[in-house]
Amino acid sequence: MCPVLSGPYLLMIEKINELMTRVASLQASSAEEVEQLRVQYLSKKGEISLLFNDFRNVPAEQKREVGQKINELKTLATDRIAELREAVEAKDEADREAGIDLTRTATPLPGGTRHPLNLVKAQMLDIFARMGFTIADGPEVEDDWHVFSALNFAADHPARDMQDTFFIARNPADVLLRTHTSSVQTRTMEKAQPPIRIVCPGRVYRNEAISARAHCFFHQIEGLYIDRNVSFADLRQVLLLFARQMFGPETKIRLRPSYFPFTEPSAEMDISCNICGGKGCGFCKQTGWVEILGCGMVDPAVLEACGIDSKEYTGYAFGMGVERITNLKYRVKDLRMFSENDVRFLDEFIAAK
Ligand code: DAH
Repeated sequence: MCPVLSGPYLLMIEKINELMTRVASLQASSAEEVEQLRVQYLSKKGEISLLFNDFRNVPAEQKREVGQKINELKTLATDRIAELREAVEAKDEADREAGIDLTRTATPLPGGTRHPLNLVKAQMLDIFARMGFTIADGPEVEDDWHVFSALNFAADHPARDMQDTFFIARNPADVLLRTHTSSVQTRTMEKAQPPIRIVCPGRVYRNEAISARAHCFFHQIEGLYIDRNVSFADLRQVLLLFARQMFGPETKIRLRPSYFPFTEPSAEMDISCNICGGKGCGFCKQTGWVEILGCGMVDPAVLEACGIDSKEYTGYAFGMGVERITNLKYRVKDLRMFSENDVRFLDEFIAAK
């Protein structure tokens, strides 16, 4: 039997079908638009909820069918609006990310630089390491024996004078701040037998008035080589190689006779002025040469004082200031700048890494 189709039923079915078509093709381009759609269709006063008001008038035998259709419509609308919300949120997220440079560092950190003295020290040690020297270390707070007596300084040598040396205790052990890294020679020779081939970097102290050209502390690198048949020619060759690697292959060296208590013979070494190339300029006082280090053959008395047989072994030693070498490379006019930690000065060495 065909059901009698009454007015309210047909109207409802038509309305529901029309809403189904509309809901299926809903569009939104922002979260606000999605919310508007939710209010329009799903809120208490929304179009779908209003259908339930008319539902009352639907004849009893069609209520079931109409009720099912309204529920279908409600599910369709709920799903479609959720879909639109997801799409809009994904788009917002993508837009946000597109506006951000994800490769940027979180906070700009000012990059530090290596201190020029460390830079040059590392370069110097590297050159000697390639020639077979290993690094030796010793204390800055020393005693008279390791700094002076074992190194052949006479009891009345002026270097022991209060003018030069910072004494920590006069008696009983004469504790003092080392005035040169030659003290590491003493300590190494006391402990080891030849062959010994070391470089000793470190800080040294002298009781001097601080000025642009002098400081109460500075840095040295000491070298020592002891073995059978070590000659002055070996010393000269090692220093020539060092000078050329440090200051360029055209660099010339010259050795002038000098005096140190712990070497015999002793010499001071000049390099051809690395500013004018040896022609003569203000920096080298028109001489074409600049002094860079002291050196010599280790005095047999020093070998004996440290327990090494001076009839069997000979050796050479050299010592130089790291500030001096750094000045020659980078023209630092005032020694005080090395220890003032002014970042404007330190920043000048960014490129010198
Ligand atoms: N110790 C010396 C100084 O501080 C430098 C020096 C000169 C070291 C000659 C040596 C050397 O090893 O042989 O002035």
